[in-house]
Amino acid sequence: MKSKEILSEIEQRRAYRALAEKPIEQDVLDRLLSAAVLAPSCMNKQPWRFLLVTEDAEREKVADSLTRGNYWAKKAPAYVLVITSLELDCKLPRNREYALFDTGMAVMNLLLQATKEGLYAHPMAGFDADKLAESMGIFDEFILVTVIALGWPGSTESLGEQHLTMESAPRDRKPIESVVFKNKWDNDKAKKVQ
Ligand SMILES: Cc1cc2nc3c(=O)[nH]c(=O)nc-3n(C[C@H](O)[C@H](O)[C@H](O)COP(=O)(O)O)c2cc1C
Repeated sequence: MKSKEILSEIEQRRAYRALAEKPIEQDVLDRLLSAAVLAPSCMNKQPWRFLLVTEDAEREKVADSLTRGNYWAKKAPAYVLVITSLELDCKLPRNREYALFDTGMAVMNLLLQATKEGLYAHPMAGFDADKLAESMGIFDEFILVTVIALGWPGSTESLGEQHLTMESAPRDRKPIESVVFKNKWDNDKAKKVQ
């Protein structure tokens, strides 16, 4: 997908896996987090919390919590653990609990800033949240939303066949007509998974 009208960082950002082990400068990491906290939030509650992990012993704890399919992320020189709690944000009728939504927007800011810096930033749900929370001393009241693996672009050598293919595969998205409704809502269409 290429379009002059879409922001270049939005177009360029991908969930790449070929990470280099080379460390990431602290000022770059600080900029990612500064971008994240500029996100909007319900009543400016700013429910996001981030745990930046760069030290070897702590990185090992994160690496040990990853699912098997996320083997590639063990190389990451830095991780950002994205944490929130429903108690930190607005709770409105019809299930409108905004902590995850607002935290997601902060994550997107971080991903786009990373893209601008030339970094790969790959959010993951594939980790053992109980194990990771326990090893990092995160209380149960917090939601460990995602772990973002960060790294400069590296070699594809250690990627499995499927991930190697995905690294250069075109974007995979549902047809826009199946997710965008104009003036008229269609409940049945909206319910379709694919
Ligand atoms: C909440 C979330 C969890 C994800 N978990 C994983 C994961 O555990 N492992 C992985 O390889 N990719 C993971 N991804 C990456 C998605 O698979 C990827 O964003 C999606 O396929 C779209 O590709 P793109 O980001 O390159 O456009 C995750 C993405 C998000 C937003």
